[in-house]
Amino acid sequence: MTAQDNSTELESSIVQAIEAATNVAALEDVRVAALGKKGSISALLKTLGGMSNEQRQEKGPVFNQLRDRITQAIAERKQALEADALSAQLTNETQDMTLPVEADPLLSGRIHPVSQVMDELSAIFADMGFDVAEGPDIESDYYNFTALNVPEAHPARQMHDTFYFHPNAEGERLLLRTHTSPVQVRTMQAGGPPFRFIAPGRTYRCDSDQTHTPMFHQVEGLVVDESTHMGHLKWTLQAFLAAFFEIDNIAIRLRPSYFPFTEPSMEIDMQCRRDGNQLIVGEGDDWMEIGGSGMVHPTVLQHAGIDSEKYQGFAFGMGIDRLAMLKYGMPDLRAFFDADLRWLKHYGFVPLDVPSLSSGLSNKSLAGK
Ligand code: DAH
Repeated sequence: MTAQDNSTELESSIVQAIEAATNVAALEDVRVAALGKKGSISALLKTLGGMSNEQRQEKGPVFNQLRDRITQAIAERKQALEADALSAQLTNETQDMTLPVEADPLLSGRIHPVSQVMDELSAIFADMGFDVAEGPDIESDYYNFTALNVPEAHPARQMHDTFYFHPNAEGERLLLRTHTSPVQVRTMQAGGPPFRFIAPGRTYRCDSDQTHTPMFHQVEGLVVDESTHMGHLKWTLQAFLAAFFEIDNIAIRLRPSYFPFTEPSMEIDMQCRRDGNQLIVGEGDDWMEIGGSGMVHPTVLQHAGIDSEKYQGFAFGMGIDRLAMLKYGMPDLRAFFDADLRWLKHYGFVPLDVPSLSSGLSNKSLAGK
């Protein structure tokens, strides 16, 4: 048998094997068996070395062309197999475009409970027709105290443990607002009555223990009109608390107190029941203080340029952190500001769950996930 006969048989057996390969891996085996270092075609090419010059001149081109044809046949088969595999994948794989958005990675971020509660407050009060007002964290003595009927040398100034800045070029000492009440005067000055707004935000006092942090959050509320009275105040607070705690009804108690910027002044107590370490809101005969309130003092209205003979109204201020702790069962206020991701993952809220009265304020099934 001549080498040419051999090579013809070899070619047809390799071509058969190529056609028989039904996937890329099987085809690769065929390629290695033919063209690999120890492959049949490589062995054939090696025989050239032992031939006479004449023979080599005759067989050299024949063997090389054979190698090229096989190489090309394998490449073509590979392309065909890959195209088949892709179209099989495309027919088998389906995408259900009606499925909800996947949970990750967008939802791996969390909304801090304080931001969540601010959004909840805003949703509830917006539903009652309140605007949301804002004011600066760095305040003047005038707005933080004087305009709110807290005269200089009044003991209430000491009570607030104020953080003061060094005097500025004009000799004025700015401060970090000790409450959100200055937003009352700023917002009234910027517009005209009637007013109905809340002002949530950061507040600062030099104080720190398990229930106090130097920075904390309050929400201020103000309603001023010609005939606004204390009945409106009580209903508003009661309706707000019931909506916020997502219960049908809640009793509140307005306990006589003193604030320079209201007359009369009342502390707001909310009905609750203590069960061991737990505090259940809206049941029982215990009370929990959640803020201050009263009828806006005429002097405050005058500072804001409002005719206090014609207009009257109510104001309130509540601690947002306290409300958040009560609603979501977070025992230590300091953890709010530790920036601990594990805490945030546990108590935080899913970003796309925007609180609204119609879709639900807090998606309880997701809270804590
Ligand atoms: N600003 C008061 C505080 O921080 C809370 C407060 C009490 C606000 C009575 C009010 C109010 O608007 O009417 O202690």
